[in-house]
Amino acid sequence: MTYLLHLQCRECGRTYAADPIAACEECWAPLEVIYDYGRLWSDLRRRDLESRPPDMWRYRELLPLEGEPWVGRRTGFTPLLPAPRLARALGARNVYVKNDAVNCPTLSFKDRVVAVALSKAREFGFETVGCSSTGNLANAVAAQAAAGGFKAFIFVPADLEPEKIVGTQVFGATLVRVAGPYDQGNRLCSEVAQKYPWGVVNVNLRAYYSEGSKTVGFEVAEQLGWRLPQNVVVPMGGGSLITKTAKAFEELKKLGWVESVPTKFFGAQAAGCCPITTAVKKRTSEIQPQKPNTIARSLAIGNPADGPSAVKAILGSGGAGEDASDEEIVDGIKLLAETEGVFSETAGGVTVAVARKLIREGKLNPEESIVLFITGNGLKTVGAVKGCFGENNAIRPRLVDFEERFLNLATAGRA
Ligand SMILES: Cc1ncc(COP(=O)(O)O)c(C=O)c1O
Ligand SMILES: [Zn+2]
Repeated sequence: MTYLLHLQCRECGRTYAADPIAACEECWAPLEVIYDYGRLWSDLRRRDLESRPPDMWRYRELLPLEGEPWVGRRTGFTPLLPAPRLARALGARNVYVKNDAVNCPTLSFKDRVVAVALSKAREFGFETVGCSSTGNLANAVAAQAAAGGFKAFIFVPADLEPEKIVGTQVFGATLVRVAGPYDQGNRLCSEVAQKYPWGVVNVNLRAYYSEGSKTVGFEVAEQLGWRLPQNVVVPMGGGSLITKTAKAFEELKKLGWVESVPTKFFGAQAAGCCPITTAVKKRTSEIQPQKPNTIARSLAIGNPADGPSAVKAILGSGGAGEDASDEEIVDGIKLLAETEGVFSETAGGVTVAVARKLIREGKLNPEESIVLFITGNGLKTVGAVKGCFGENNAIRPRLVDFEERFLNLATAGRA
């Protein structure tokens, strides 16, 4: 049974039937999925969900499908890890890591959005799907298209990390490497979506796809014992994840499943591509596009579609935006790995680095609960940290060599 009512323009409020539509025809703003909250409130109890399997579909009534999911049956319900050693390093009291670096099947939070998008593509009868991507979405669409029996065309910047290129091609998807930054590939992909009868995840399926991000928020609340965190730090590319996490928390309040306490939203970007945090600092929702230049390739979106909504979510919550240099991003990756044993991709380095900065600047209260969104896996961006550990030449297979090199024991004078 679905609770999906219709689509509605986020800016002008015009409503549309729940069809594959890219944006509002009046003002080009993104479309929002509207549910029947009254009926949800009377039909559904928190405890109804608690016995369901540990995946994102335990919240299926709050997702825009008419029927059963077609792909991504095991996606979501990733661990929320208490992070005491990281907390100590940050000078904070109560830090958690939401670890989507181990999401299924392709090790990023994009598995969630794609599970919804391709299930919706199936409902609409599309046989071919596609997306433009900074890497993780490419991997997720390719894998789930393979599992769902779709043909897939995937547009990425030509110079993307090799792990993300191979991690797309291996699934048999057609990879379209576009010379130029993400935003140019995205424009080409939108033109393709207009011409061909395909389900393009972040174009005509965008309203549905982005709903998948809400499940991160639902899970965090449930994993905290149906409580909202006081602060979340979220990496931003297009600005959808942070916007939809805010929507998720509002929905839980509407349903009376959590106490109506405020959460502050903190948006994190790389200094080499920070159109959203720049707008937040200027306290305007008008986004000035940028030309990306950062190792955080997954967040390198110069003209973010959900930028204005992300700014509003942050400023409306009393949060803040901050950005991190490439060097700080690498330090963030290492700090998380060394303190909590979690190897994050560059986006997670951005989250950790920005959290550290915000605490130092006095904008993020270290006495309150803080959830850090770790959204992708470090094995996909190995190049970012590869050079950090110096040369490690082989030794001969001799105990003396081991002791000399690693224990600094001098050989002279030993028996
Ligand atoms: C690992 C990772 N984290 C965060 C984001 C940002 O998500 P959004 O584009 O919804 O802001 C992306 C992709 O854009 C990503 O790949
Ligand atoms: Zn509109």
